[in-house]
Amino acid sequence: MFILLAAAVMSAPAFAQVKLTADNIDEVLAAMTLEEKAKLVVGPGWGGVPAGVPESKCILPGAAGTTQAIERLGIPQTVLSDGPAGLRIHDHREGSDRTYYCTGFPVGTSLASSWDLPLVEEVTKAMGNEVLEYGSDVLLAPGQNIHRNPLCGRNFEYFSEDPLLSGKMAAAYVRGIQSNGVGTSVKHFAANNQENNRYENDARISERALREIYLRNFEISVKESEPWTIMSSYNRLNGPYTQASHYLLTEVLREQWGYKGMVMSDWTGTRVTSDQIMAGNDLLQPGFLDQEAELVRKVRSGEMPVEALDVCVRRVLEYIVKTPRFKGYKFSENPDLTAHAAVARKAAGETMVLLKNEEKTLPMAKGAKVALFGASAVNFIAGGTGSGEVHKAYVTNMVDGLEHAGYQLDGELKKFYRTCVDYGMAEAALDGRYWNVVVPDPAVSKKYVQKTVSRNDIAVVVIGRNSGEGGDRWLNDFYLTEAERNLIKDVCNVYHQEKKKVVVVLNIGGVIETASWKEMPDAILLAWQPGQEGGDAVADVLSGDVNPSAKLPMTFPNDYMHHWSSLNFPYEANWHGKNRKDIDYTNYEEGIYVGYRYFGTYGKAVSYPFGFGLSYTTFSYSKPVVKLSSDGSLRASVVVTNTGDVAGREVVQLYVSAPAGGLDKPESELKSFAKTKTLAPGESQTLTFSVDAYTLASFDEAADMWKTAAGTYEARFSAAYGDVRAKSVFKMSKSYRFVK
Ligand code: GLC
Repeated sequence: MFILLAAAVMSAPAFAQVKLTADNIDEVLAAMTLEEKAKLVVGPGWGGVPAGVPESKCILPGAAGTTQAIERLGIPQTVLSDGPAGLRIHDHREGSDRTYYCTGFPVGTSLASSWDLPLVEEVTKAMGNEVLEYGSDVLLAPGQNIHRNPLCGRNFEYFSEDPLLSGKMAAAYVRGIQSNGVGTSVKHFAANNQENNRYENDARISERALREIYLRNFEISVKESEPWTIMSSYNRLNGPYTQASHYLLTEVLREQWGYKGMVMSDWTGTRVTSDQIMAGNDLLQPGFLDQEAELVRKVRSGEMPVEALDVCVRRVLEYIVKTPRFKGYKFSENPDLTAHAAVARKAAGETMVLLKNEEKTLPMAKGAKVALFGASAVNFIAGGTGSGEVHKAYVTNMVDGLEHAGYQLDGELKKFYRTCVDYGMAEAALDGRYWNVVVPDPAVSKKYVQKTVSRNDIAVVVIGRNSGEGGDRWLNDFYLTEAERNLIKDVCNVYHQEKKKVVVVLNIGGVIETASWKEMPDAILLAWQPGQEGGDAVADVLSGDVNPSAKLPMTFPNDYMHHWSSLNFPYEANWHGKNRKDIDYTNYEEGIYVGYRYFGTYGKAVSYPFGFGLSYTTFSYSKPVVKLSSDGSLRASVVVTNTGDVAGREVVQLYVSAPAGGLDKPESELKSFAKTKTLAPGESQTLTFSVDAYTLASFDEAADMWKTAAGTYEARFSAAYGDVRAKSVFKMSKSYRFVK
């Protein structure tokens, strides 16, 4: 009798007592009830708490979401927190008088401007330590959607217009974060290239443009860094939601790219949950009870095979056993914010792009008297808005930064702009806006500017821009306001009359128009949104303590409409009616001709090309070498010499022009890049580059495969797109084909 009873109990899997370990996932899966499986693939709600429960009650207050615990099986709740510029959690908690600040690091576009993969890993190693020590298991980052158009509201979070630079940056970012034993969520997969109508917009993209541009950067980061998770985007892609696209989430991501991790949705309302599960979207965030109920109902009714649910449950379990919470890590809630601030400042200095520097205007003489103009000098913009915003202890603005560096700021101007910002903040508060307020620059009379010139040595004018999640920039945001334009014009006229110099600093998160005014100032420094240490980092560069070495990760066009993509972008979209162009659907009519691929191939002039950036020194390139292997891969090298009189670093970009091979192709494409160490004046370094035949391939839609054409190629070692410093021709004796 006893044997029968024991056998009966053993065979009843639903009630088997088993606790999850890294080695018994199959057993746990077999022991789970249908309700428990449904619970594990659906989050508990916004902020990791069920509807009606305040987010402050989350096991990590301020987290974006969590997975759900199943105590019976030893499955803990795990925590998912934003965001790409630093951990985003509440900085204060009920019942506690301590703070939980996180470090505000430079934004994604800033990091990409460094072209320095080890630097990005250093930054994200520090960032990931805050994820670990504050008790989160995953950082919902990096954002790596392509900069298809300058007006996308979230471009500040993303890296580049080029898929290779974007993918390499994302992979370095993931490696740094995950070196702490916490996870990432590479996002937003895929083609979330506008914020207007982001939940429903159908991105209509050719297979070639998808493969070569909008999937390529994700392919690189997935294959080169194995992110724990991937976040599927809100939008549709050629019809289906990405979150319910079996083609995207299973065929491409898993079957073609070999991805083994977990896919979670972006924070979406309820859709057809079974479609999402069947597509391979393993975890639905933030999660609603009706999603769990739908899954149970559909399995019970036979509409959905339980095996489809089991595939997702298994991947969630495989994720959970990797997490610090599952491993019982005792997080300190006390990361070294001082050390991380130093990392943020050092990185910020490496991300600022010197666009102009006539007659060595920069570096500014130490101790100089500076007339600092611009509301953003006071109201300095550390980063963009939305889920990517970090609750920082402080932001060092340019007033503080320049004074820390020993500059003597014009007191009357300081007071004027402080008053303007206080007024602007008070005015914004009247209509309920309390944070991320960008105070527009007030008109300043030329007569007043005249008053300042005699008591200052040099003038600095700061231009600020911000944008963020949930909305794209308006067209007018791309251009200077009348007050900004007049300020630059008047300051230049007045100070140049007295033989004094003018510097413009751009504290912006996305590309603006520069061609119409860049001739006026003597120097232009693109500071981007460099994080909480921004003001000190700007001063480090303006003073010459840091020699700028960053380069543009996107093109600055002469005008907004010069981008081909601007013909299909919702900058003035008509929100009335149905089936609205650029709102309900967006035709990626430009195909692969995004950014420099368009401007270079169609011979369109630009204001500043992709990859452009100056230094306080100069460099020469010599001895270009390209060696082709029998498998079609190439190794290249070039010698870079510092020919100036101060130490500095140089980013060398390797562009390759390829034979047509039956396809129209861009004039040339970035296929590798490298950055020198700091070279002393006269010092040289040999940089080496490796490019495999697959990286050289173009996607042939007719053949539905990648092709590297036979023929003559040219390798161009360049300081920027179109600025070729050394080159070498090589012949591919045969063509190569690669399946998707
Ligand atoms: C947001 C964003 C995503 C973020 C998530 C959680 O809507 O699109 O980037 O990680 O929700 O906050």
